[in-house]
Amino acid sequence: MPSSVSLSTQVAGVVLPSCIYNASGPLCSHEDELHVIGQSASGAILSKSATREKRMGNEEPRYVDTGWGSINSMGLPNEGYLYYARFAQQAVAYDKPYFMSVSGLSLEDNVHIIRELEPFEHIAGIELNLSCPNVPGKPQTGYDFEQSRRTLEAVFPVCKQPLGVKLPPYFDIPHFQMMAEVLNDFPLAFVTCVNSIGNGLVIDLDSEQVLIRPKHGFGGIGGDYIKPTALANVRQFYTLLDKNVAIIGCGGVRSGEDAFEHILCGASAVQIGTQFMREGTACFERIAGELKNIMAKKGYSCLEDFKGRLKTLDG
Ligand code: SIN
Repeated sequence: MPSSVSLSTQVAGVVLPSCIYNASGPLCSHEDELHVIGQSASGAILSKSATREKRMGNEEPRYVDTGWGSINSMGLPNEGYLYYARFAQQAVAYDKPYFMSVSGLSLEDNVHIIRELEPFEHIAGIELNLSCPNVPGKPQTGYDFEQSRRTLEAVFPVCKQPLGVKLPPYFDIPHFQMMAEVLNDFPLAFVTCVNSIGNGLVIDLDSEQVLIRPKHGFGGIGGDYIKPTALANVRQFYTLLDKNVAIIGCGGVRSGEDAFEHILCGASAVQIGTQFMREGTACFERIAGELKNIMAKKGYSCLEDFKGRLKTLDG
């Protein structure tokens, strides 16, 4: 692996030794899993999205790997926010930041959780999840621009750690602009693009059945299928948001090539979801090595050499 190439990056004012780390979702719900991420080549540790109370989540089967990606309707199974807040002290053992994902089931829950996180000084940043598609009866906040604004207006005054948001994918140019207008009114540290594409349907031809039980088979789509959508969201928000907001790319990353494309679109770091679930923590070292090789071949020594420098055909 070329040693002259650095994957180090900064998110929320802290240094990550590598720009490749885990997405909130797979294999980050329990302390033992978070320790495994800590011991791996992951550039940070990110927790499962935490609610106010512990949740069992939706009925099984609720996650299926389809080869080209995944469909899930986990329904936010997690241990409750205090569990992940307390892990912050243990995460100090690792030479990388610990981020906590928060996904309250209401605005009041988000305010409560974020206010209560104040004393946990080893939380490097909070990723507020505005985009879980899998809780029946709870719409994705990120698709309601006014509600997104109200949420940020309520949480920023009580938040003492750097705060970022995890967005759903957008598909229409005016929607990117409307969300960017909201986000640019707040001192966001980062924006993670994207959560799974909500409410997709994957069908087994032989049995003529859906693959997952919750919500009659509808669930969030991740993996290869969503890379073009993820890249478009990274690019749009990189272009539209204030330059001090780091963009974290998430969606369809299974190789160094995929990670390179996210960074070229403007990502400061790249999260791995479906491929992490498939391969375990080995994916962080493998993808980082592949990314370094691509950078070395192109003569790049750090992310800044190509971050955001995507070329278009119109000059
Ligand atoms: C889930 O737990 O349902 C997945 C989390 C998410 O999509 O935000």
